[in-house]
Amino acid sequence: MASIKLLKKYNIAAPRYTSYPTVPYWDNEQFSINQWKQRLVTAYRLHQSEGISLYIHLPFCESLCTYCGCNTRITKNHAVEIPYISVLLKEWQMYVELLGEQPKIKEIHLGGGTPTFFSAANLKQLLQSIAGAERFDEDATCSFEGHPDNTTIEHLQVLYQLGFKRLSLGIQDFDLQVQFMINRYQTPQQVKAITDLARSIGYQSINYDLIYGLPGQQEEGLKNTIKEVIALQPDRIAFYSYAHVPWIKAGQRHFTENDIPQGDEKFALYEIGRELLVAAGYQEIGMDHFALKTDSLYIASEEGKLHRNFMGYTDQHTPILLGLGVSSISDCGTAFAQNAKTVEEYKQVIASNELAVQKGHLLSLEDLYLRQHITNLMCRNQTVFDEDVDPSVLSRLQPMIDDELVNVNAAKVIITPKGKSYLRNVCMAFDNRLWQRQPKTQLFSAAI
Ligand SMILES: C[S@@+](CC[C@H](N)C(=O)[O-])C[C@H]1O[C@@H](n2cnc3c(N)ncnc32)[C@H](O)[C@@H]1O
Repeated sequence: MASIKLLKKYNIAAPRYTSYPTVPYWDNEQFSINQWKQRLVTAYRLHQSEGISLYIHLPFCESLCTYCGCNTRITKNHAVEIPYISVLLKEWQMYVELLGEQPKIKEIHLGGGTPTFFSAANLKQLLQSIAGAERFDEDATCSFEGHPDNTTIEHLQVLYQLGFKRLSLGIQDFDLQVQFMINRYQTPQQVKAITDLARSIGYQSINYDLIYGLPGQQEEGLKNTIKEVIALQPDRIAFYSYAHVPWIKAGQRHFTENDIPQGDEKFALYEIGRELLVAAGYQEIGMDHFALKTDSLYIASEEGKLHRNFMGYTDQHTPILLGLGVSSISDCGTAFAQNAKTVEEYKQVIASNELAVQKGHLLSLEDLYLRQHITNLMCRNQTVFDEDVDPSVLSRLQPMIDDELVNVNAAKVIITPKGKSYLRNVCMAFDNRLWQRQPKTQLFSAAI
């Protein structure tokens, strides 16, 4: 158990490092769409045979979950589905033309919002047009996020026939008090029914998203939730730290800071969850993730093949990730690009026959080098410098070395078991861009 002293010292605003540089530190002034296109085409020529990853953002949700930090559009009007899909397909065609061919898709993920807001028939039309075939290749990793409220047998069957074998269900918490606070209701029975159905159809990996630190969450309630979850045996669990960013997400103002467990109270919730999951045979992977030993995420982590990108942890590593849809982020290895953040703007730019990229970043040699170290830490708990550890990184690591969160052995930086809870803080020591320009306002949620 972490000491209160350590928690107080390290519970500062810290990025989650799904990228380096982190989005608030992108140098948009040095970036243009033309440079993005050039860097993407160059990367594609180099890595053509490896295939690409594709992320499709489907932002619509029928109701607002007040805790949610994702880019969403709340509506009950399903007439929005077809126009949005036609814009996605036009954006995809622009990328196909730019790359000069239909790229091989190694990984596809439908995220949101709520992908299962869309009808199974509309998703089928979207995905077959993108695959350019009846289904995706057998070796492609295809996954989607489903809401237990509206994931139907049609969704599960149609997506399975298209090649989808992984399903991620958003649960967050089964406790009724928490569900009331976050305006999101689902019962264990509902989740069991979808899980059983997905397995009977042939889905091989089922993930549940849970969150600790939610408003109204208490130890007893969380214990019960984790026990219900363990009984259903999902292959993977994402046990996220609640990111409280009310200055970005107004929905989070539906409750107050007093409703949210913080500091040691929040950390205790994590520990309760972690202990129950580990005792039930789940392996802790990277930050916030657990998997059964049979799951490919665990196997990849054992083989040193775990990777992290904007979608989180993955066992696939393709050099190019294309993001389609509102607010999606693309990464060609040497540059990042993010699409416009409102549905209207996104649609309008694509209608004018231009990519909807609104901002981006061209990675410098230093960025590439630091990014590799941060990825190593996030995925493997250690990193090795070519020679000695960079002196400025070393001096920033010093307090964590003194607190036995990190060991430095010649050129190697290793996170200790005690330090695993402070992974974001350790990565911050490598974040030159953040140290060069300290934020004037709070940009990130708290590290713990
Ligand atoms: C885009 S959401 C998908 C949820 C899915 N559409 C559903 O409604 O079931 C992806 C996941 O991000 C996590 N998430 C969203 N907002 C968060 C926040 N403020 N803090 C921590 N995790 C969050 C949740 O666990 C959520 O399931």
